[in-house]
Amino acid sequence: MTFRFELHHTGAQTGARRGTFQTPHGPVETPGFMPVGTQGTVKGLTIDQVKSTGAQMILGNTYHLGLRPGPDIVRALGGLHAMFAWDGPILTDSGGFQVFSLKDISKISEQSVVFRSHIDGSIIDLTPEYSIEIQEALGSDVAMVLDHVVALPAPNEEVQEAMERSIRWASRCLEHASRADQAKFAIVQGGLDTELRVQCARELATMDFEGFAVGGLSVGETPEEMYRITGATTPELPVDRPRYLMGVGRPIDLLESVVRGIDLFDCVMPTRNGRNGFAFTDQGAVKIRNAVHKTDRSPLDPTCDCFTCTRHSRGYLRHLFNAGEMLGPSLLSLHNLHYYQRVMAGARAAIETDTLTEYIVEKKRLWGMPQ
Ligand code: GUN
Ligand code: ZN
Repeated sequence: MTFRFELHHTGAQTGARRGTFQTPHGPVETPGFMPVGTQGTVKGLTIDQVKSTGAQMILGNTYHLGLRPGPDIVRALGGLHAMFAWDGPILTDSGGFQVFSLKDISKISEQSVVFRSHIDGSIIDLTPEYSIEIQEALGSDVAMVLDHVVALPAPNEEVQEAMERSIRWASRCLEHASRADQAKFAIVQGGLDTELRVQCARELATMDFEGFAVGGLSVGETPEEMYRITGATTPELPVDRPRYLMGVGRPIDLLESVVRGIDLFDCVMPTRNGRNGFAFTDQGAVKIRNAVHKTDRSPLDPTCDCFTCTRHSRGYLRHLFNAGEMLGPSLLSLHNLHYYQRVMAGARAAIETDTLTEYIVEKKRLWGMPQ
């Protein structure tokens, strides 16, 4: 089998799982975090730097890469792996989430979503089948199904209709796919309604997907609501397939979701916050522009062995941000990605020894969060 999900240990204390997802481009240890490379680059970092953080799988976007440079040019350049110069696994999102967050959608029908390109204004008719064709041209290891994401809050009928359409679209994606070396992951929708989520997960679970995602979260709901929906959804998914929580989140959200049986994550937070001068550390959040760091010769995080923390001081990093130098955002993105990988590696080790609960208590203490 080209794709295999090996479960090594399931938490005795929690629903956490320690596994390995095998892909044609190598293994991904789970729970794992995927840096986001929306346009064919993890913003501000070379691929060697991304690798140095410990990342094993990265994410690309069908929406962005399908519009620019376009599937034919990506294919001509040898596919996404060649473009990224990344020989590890790549997952591509389907475009669903990005299209539905645009203001300029002209028409959603059973057949497709029609929208205007933000690049040249041209009209694109995105069907589930076309999303799969683009992802096959990109050559990712995992393709996500096209889903219908509704902005919340929304009337219940609307959420239900979008959820049901997402199931039909998932089935069309599966039917249309032709590459055996590309896994297809379904996406559970259903807003903040537990019953809709359970129904959606059960129906998708009857189909032959290599993995399952929980979508439509981290869209403005409270963390508690997100945990509630995740916790209600994972028990309905096949135990022997990886579960991916899309677009989440803060380090604490990752850990709380691991407890609820999630195996994979992606989020722009480490890179976006890094670009904005915000660092995640074992001493809590650090705003590097703050004047308190002006003459500070200590590293961003003394417990971190990333390039940024082993070579540079807080005072220097603050200077880079104040001077508007591009190295500043790069160095903080590098550290943040490294930090996310470290939190996940710690979670994996804790699951193996059934100490995840204690690990989370300790992290919350370090982050200054109430227990
Ligand atoms: N990224 C974050 N959330 C979602 C979602 O619900 N669907 C898709 N396709 N991508 C996402
Ligand atoms: Zn660091």
